[in-house]
Amino acid sequence: MGDDYAAYLEERNARLERLRAWIAAELGGAEAVTLEFGCGHGHYLAGYAAERPGEWCAGLDLRTRRIRLAEAKARKRGLVRTRFVKAEAMEFLDALEGGPGVRRAFMLFPDPWPKKRHHKHRMLQAAFLDRLAERAVPDACLHFRTDHAENLAWAVAQVQAHPRWTLLPDEPWPHESGTYFQEVTGGCYQSFTARASR
Ligand SMILES: C[S@@+](CC[C@H](N)C(=O)[O-])C[C@H]1O[C@@H](n2cnc3c(N)ncnc32)[C@H](O)[C@@H]1O
Repeated sequence: MGDDYAAYLEERNARLERLRAWIAAELGGAEAVTLEFGCGHGHYLAGYAAERPGEWCAGLDLRTRRIRLAEAKARKRGLVRTRFVKAEAMEFLDALEGGPGVRRAFMLFPDPWPKKRHHKHRMLQAAFLDRLAERAVPDACLHFRTDHAENLAWAVAQVQAHPRWTLLPDEPWPHESGTYFQEVTGGCYQSFTARASR
């Protein structure tokens, strides 16, 4: 094992430890949680959670400033069961093992990474669907929305190829409140919902 790889593993393990501690402290009272992956400034999850004060919600994003803005929204609205954390999507799911189950997950306007050689950076991957299905409670749903037609087709194909996810073409969208990126699309976007099975 090279020094660089050993250092990477050490840093990753330290991040996972911090996330496990955060989950225990902040979501310890939850049996199940609604997650938003790549929550940006938290517009959507804050709106969703305001309509469901009994539901535990957590938004995660890679950008510290976006998380701070999202936290301020939750405080301002008095959302006592809503949390935001700086975390990478797969690392958060790894750290969630033994914690609350995932009842619902949103991925809204993820970075499309349009070039083929960059598709590996897209958040929704087969490995992500594997891990999300492992953490999901029965009948948990994943809601995906994008304004990027090729990314949508690609994401649908990932779900259709996955043995533990089923597209639900008639499922109503659970909540509408514009995300930061949704506002700049001018209403030109598409969505799908998929259900996890054990
Ligand atoms: C295009 S923005 C969309 C933000 C928000 N959903 C919206 O619609 O306004 C994509 C967000 O995903 C975050 N992101 C990208 N890859 C991520 C990853 N692997 N884990 C967590 N967040 C990620 C980015 O930091 C960015 O804030």
